[in-house]
Amino acid sequence: MSNSNWVDAKVIENIHWTDALYSLKVEGDIGAYEAGQFGRLGLMIDDNIIGRPYSFVSAPHEDFYEFYSINVPEGLLSPKLAELKAGDHVYLGKKANGFLVLNEIPESEDLWMISTGTGIGPFLSIVKTQEPWKRFKKVVLIHAVRHAKELTYRELIDQIKAQHPDQFEYVPFVSREETDFALPGRIPKALDNGTLEERINLKIENGKSQIMLCGNPDMVKDVRETLEKRGLTKNLRRTPGNISTENYW
Ligand SMILES: Cc1cc2nc3c(=O)[nH]c(=O)nc-3n(C[C@H](O)[C@H](O)[C@H](O)COP(=O)(O)OP(=O)(O)OC[C@H]3O[C@@H](n4cnc5c(N)ncnc54)[C@H](O)[C@@H]3O)c2cc1C
Ligand SMILES: NC(=O)c1ccc[n+]([C@@H]2O[C@H](COP(=O)([O-])OP(=O)(O)OC[C@H]3O[C@@H](n4cnc5c(N)ncnc54)[C@H](OP(=O)(O)O)[C@@H]3O)[C@@H](O)[C@H]2O)c1
Repeated sequence: MSNSNWVDAKVIENIHWTDALYSLKVEGDIGAYEAGQFGRLGLMIDDNIIGRPYSFVSAPHEDFYEFYSINVPEGLLSPKLAELKAGDHVYLGKKANGFLVLNEIPESEDLWMISTGTGIGPFLSIVKTQEPWKRFKKVVLIHAVRHAKELTYRELIDQIKAQHPDQFEYVPFVSREETDFALPGRIPKALDNGTLEERINLKIENGKSQIMLCGNPDMVKDVRETLEKRGLTKNLRRTPGNISTENYW
């Protein structure tokens, strides 16, 4: 990687949500991005800049960049990013990328944004913008995690709900402990047995629903296959469909 791909940036804040989950707020000077896209963070490791893609949690109108990350203990970069403190240096990729953006989503009544873990990031950026509220009757945000403490960004989500009480639905899933508020288990099963759609009294239907999927590639695959059985199809530029995806690994 050459330095020309990177700009020098400074950490403004590192928010630690749990032992493993953290959000980096960064200031620097990169080009424009769209809500839903990803940038890159990098650090100099053994004389090389090691970079990885991270979705923007910040929205384009905000004057800082925010990224939500998990510390993968055996990983090369994420444990080092987790240690950064305000004032530390980090490299920021010059160019944003990615197609998990509302510009790529065909017209529909309802928008379903389905995530696991840190895959909620791009959807938080999207709900901070005006576009989903102008375009869709219902905007559904689904966040599936192992443990309840990993249901982060609740304050922001509550704010969005207060701003759009009838239009916005937030559905948490917690798979590895019992709670009295989240759906249990995994998203594909809750689609198969109807509990997800019953919870918010809204059905995913070909012709009226657009689905965006982000996070764990196995979840993305399993949800896609579940929806394909109902006749929904992948959204491609040449052949518009209903399902748009981004895998984090
Ligand atoms: C388009 C894109 C956008 C991404 N955006 C984000 C983001 O916003 N936030 C984020 O945390 N990661 C994101 N990732 C993953 C990120 O780029 C890194 O792979 C991750 O931070 C681990 O880096 P590492 O060098 O520590 O480990 P690596 O050596 O890259 O280890 C990779 C392994 O870590 C695990 N892993 C990687 N990412 C995650 C994750 N997010 N949650 C759980 N397990 C994971 C997988 O088992 C994977 O095989 C994104 C990846 C892609 C391709
Ligand atoms: N540094 C630390 O201390 C620390 C601590 C914890 C984790 N970690 C790291 O973080 C990684 C895990 O991150 P994570 O919990 O965000 O990710 P995850 O394993 O993707 O789990 C998030 C949610 O996705 C669900 N899921 C998994 N596969 C699915 C599928 N095929 N279909 C539908 N849903 C599915 C999980 O359900 P299930 O529970 O049923 O799998 C869980 O509810 C670990 O690999 C580890 O590297 C680090």
